[in-house]
Amino acid sequence: MEPIRKIAVNTGGGDAPGLNAVIQAVTFAAARLGWEVYGVREGYSGLLDPQNYPDGGLMRLTPERVRNISHLGGTILGTVNKGNPFKVTESLQGGMTVAKDRSDEVVAAFRKHGLDALVAVGGDGSLTIANMLNKKGIRLVGVPKTIDNDLSATALTFGFQTAVDFATECIDRLHSTAESHQRVIVVEVMGRYAGWIALQAGVAGRADAILIPEVPYDIHIIARHLQDVGASGKAYAIVVVAEGAKPSGGDVMVKAREAGRQERLGGIGERIAGELESLTGKDARAVVLGHLLRGGSPVAIDRMLGLTFGAAAVDALRTGKDGIMVALQPPNIAHVPLEDAVKQTKLVPVDGYGVLTAKALNICFGD
Ligand code: F6P
Repeated sequence: MEPIRKIAVNTGGGDAPGLNAVIQAVTFAAARLGWEVYGVREGYSGLLDPQNYPDGGLMRLTPERVRNISHLGGTILGTVNKGNPFKVTESLQGGMTVAKDRSDEVVAAFRKHGLDALVAVGGDGSLTIANMLNKKGIRLVGVPKTIDNDLSATALTFGFQTAVDFATECIDRLHSTAESHQRVIVVEVMGRYAGWIALQAGVAGRADAILIPEVPYDIHIIARHLQDVGASGKAYAIVVVAEGAKPSGGDVMVKAREAGRQERLGGIGERIAGELESLTGKDARAVVLGHLLRGGSPVAIDRMLGLTFGAAAVDALRTGKDGIMVALQPPNIAHVPLEDAVKQTKLVPVDGYGVLTAKALNICFGD
């Protein structure tokens, strides 16, 4: 294997608190080895369309430049979730679009810049792309990222705990207003097809019902539960619903479908509030936390995880690893083949301790 002198790091997909911590650790760890580090702007756009960036699409990263970023939300490199170089959407005359494969251009630009390896930070979509680029000859180590915590190869992804903490704080705040007005408040949280955020924030935030994609719900069961809770003396209720929750026999609510990106979920909170209002006769409101869960400073554990993954990715490259993703498999950091890293979505086990704890606390799942 050729010795490494110059590496790049990029961030793809939706942002997650902790991305800047990864960038900081990659830069510091690589600099200690005498490697130069460059950050690719907005996924692969900095390589594909350098003319769009004043710095030519690559940001020189030095320890001086990144020493104070691990506590910042977002990513200093920018990110895109429409950034698949194998399927770049191009507009044709008459409003038509075509998907063009520009992956060879990424490889060519990578070589032209004299880059020896890439640290690709992303969720399942970005890591799938990383795997395909690796097969085209780019030496590469992946770092898992998503607030959804739905990657099966790693026990935890950074950003998740920050999202759960903030959602819990929001739910805490909603109790007093719900109680004052004797209302049902439905809180919709992100998480895509997994219910991790809803489950943990719902339990920590003392919800009366939690609806997750893994447990299709029956709205009548939830309404009855809220009535029972009311009869026991609690005149208000909090329902936490994952954006990917669905009624038994029904489907997820999709807000938008656009070429070149995953379907956008959303709207289930409003629907459930309406249905519960008519079934229980109680005033109901819906709150969508949405992108608030992706913003803000990473909590300490997400900073630590991002920094650890960044350092581990550079160490993996140093020891000759290629085509793998670093993963938390307590107490170790493991190296998982990229191929396997994105194979399976990690869903909430319906008979796991999380659901068990919630049920012990009389939290209803609508099943
Ligand atoms: O995967 C992270 C996530 O925040 C999901 O929870 C959510 O469904 C999606 O991204 C929203 O993405 P966008 O940035 O397209 O709104």
